[in-house]
Amino acid sequence: MDLITMDDLTNEEAISLLDDAERLLPIARGDVHLPLLEGKVLANLFFENSTRTRLSFETAMKRLGGEVLNLSEVGSSVKKGETLYDTMQMIDGYADVAVIRHPRQGAAQYAADAVQIPIMNAGDGAGNHPTQTLLDLFTIRHGQGKIDGLNVVLVGDLRYGRTVHSLSHALGRFGASLTLVSPEPLKMPPEIVKDLKSSGCHVEESEDLAPAISSADVVYMTRIQRERFPDEAEYEKVAGIYTLKAEDLRSVQSDMMIMHPLPRVNEIHPSIDSTDHAWYFKQAFNGVPTRMALLCRSLGIQIPEAIV
Ligand code: NCD
Repeated sequence: MDLITMDDLTNEEAISLLDDAERLLPIARGDVHLPLLEGKVLANLFFENSTRTRLSFETAMKRLGGEVLNLSEVGSSVKKGETLYDTMQMIDGYADVAVIRHPRQGAAQYAADAVQIPIMNAGDGAGNHPTQTLLDLFTIRHGQGKIDGLNVVLVGDLRYGRTVHSLSHALGRFGASLTLVSPEPLKMPPEIVKDLKSSGCHVEESEDLAPAISSADVVYMTRIQRERFPDEAEYEKVAGIYTLKAEDLRSVQSDMMIMHPLPRVNEIHPSIDSTDHAWYFKQAFNGVPTRMALLCRSLGIQIPEAIV
């Protein structure tokens, strides 16, 4: 079963994955050893930089007793000009499941169409990042106990940021209200805003961060995606546009969560790290149980009801 966009999961399936991830927490933390994926091989195919996504998939697989192959451009025949199609033919024979990140939008779907094994999209250009969305939903549910009715502010590069493309879609489906804060050139693509609104999601757009955070339940900061700008001068105009510091949080709700898919550049000042609002490092850890749940699902492995 592939996971290319959030459309590949119904709300029920997404919730059931979050419940699975909850049950898998003791294994994710290393407190319990349960080799549910022994004998299985994951191929990590990263054609773009990654720290959390690649490593948390690797940890998830290893903590469940599976093995991991890592392909990177350096050291593979991609550098010699091998096509993605041909590379995927090999992976089909070497692994049971693959995770792919690629700079080209649509590449994960293309890879999935080329093989039999399940493929998970770990980011396709400015397209989608559904496995990140699941860990984001997991984190929000942990912090707020629900998703329905929350007021979520998505901040930064909403044009090129793939995390917010997938996340806004999921939040809308689960009944959250969205405030989209970005500079004019980095607004959420109009077709996404239109989809959100036509599915009944309450959406507001703004360029101002300060007024938006006072009534927020979650503030989701994102990095300006420098590598996707056709022109460096355009990047310079918006670099560092939104930053949060501890002193900006004086009038926010006491349980407001600050999230970030990371890496942060200068969007969240380290003075926030020690406050109760800082959720981004827990969020990064949550990649392990959610990706464990995803791996089990794509490999058709049942997770026991009680893990102790
Ligand atoms: C994000 C990505 O690759 O889209 N990182 C991640 O997976 N945690 C966010 C980013 O690079 O800004």
